[in-house]
Amino acid sequence: MHDIFDEIATLKARENATILAHYYQEGEIQQLADFTGDSLKLAREATKVETSTIVFCGVHFMAETAKMLNPDKRVLLPDLRAGCSLAESCPADKLARYQEMLRINGRRFQTVTYINSSAAVKALSDWVVTSGNAEEIIRRVPADHEVLFVPDRHLGQYLEEVTGRKMILWNGSCMVHEIFSVGDLLELKRRLPQALTIAHPECPANIREHSDYVGGTEAMLRYVAGFQEPTDFLVATEANMLWQLQSKFPRHHYHPVPGITCACNKCPHMARNTLENLRDCLVNGSPEIHWQPEFQRAREVLQRSLLN
Ligand code: 13P
Ligand code: SF4
Repeated sequence: MHDIFDEIATLKARENATILAHYYQEGEIQQLADFTGDSLKLAREATKVETSTIVFCGVHFMAETAKMLNPDKRVLLPDLRAGCSLAESCPADKLARYQEMLRINGRRFQTVTYINSSAAVKALSDWVVTSGNAEEIIRRVPADHEVLFVPDRHLGQYLEEVTGRKMILWNGSCMVHEIFSVGDLLELKRRLPQALTIAHPECPANIREHSDYVGGTEAMLRYVAGFQEPTDFLVATEANMLWQLQSKFPRHHYHPVPGITCACNKCPHMARNTLENLRDCLVNGSPEIHWQPEFQRAREVLQRSLLN
């Protein structure tokens, strides 16, 4: 194991690379990354990188976002097939047709797009949001415009609740957060009545309504940091988040909320990145995210939404 850690460190220096890793990566990848974070923190961190290469240990839309914000850098993703069920649920041509239909019907709206989407979809949007800044951005949409929120209907519903603003919701969902078992959560709560439940806003309402706190991964870390005494937390998000919680705040106890079909919930797309293909992408200089024509317009939307 240590050999591969050393190998990656040597290659990283040789290739003048910085490794960014999302909190849903395996602990060993988070451990060797230069920076870990949620989608917002990593997108912002990517703009501060001084090396010529960024290796993005996350999924495709995250690496694509890093490239759009840093056109001159080489951005590598250990496995190009690391997709996202949310991004897949919203093809750009389908969104363009839907927007056209709304316009023909005289609806005035702005499109607010979750960062878990393709560059082509971002290019069709007015705003791009993450779990970390969505409320703030939605408040920027003029009151005389409707909000078309794509593609996560659960996050959209949650944002309707917290902003009090009715939205037109796309029918997408995250395959990981959608399948938490409410029955198992209630059973866990019975067994650990003192425990607090923290849930990601990509979870459906039936999980959110049994939670003490709802927030994205960075917000979860801030929430947990506020408890000085050892506390039990039931965690309804991708299971690798427990590694990050444990390593930052080891005084607490963390229990994964199980999925319908498994004891904990891991994202199969995030899991495509391994120490081995991370090493190989540094050796080969590929897979690389190459600049595409639609990146230019998406870049403008990203800059306005995430960096201002
Ligand atoms: P955040 O870490 O930004 O909350 O995103 C969660 C997620 O599902 C990323 O794919
Ligand atoms: Fe997409 Fe869900 Fe995986 Fe995040 S956890 S990358 S939203 S499928």
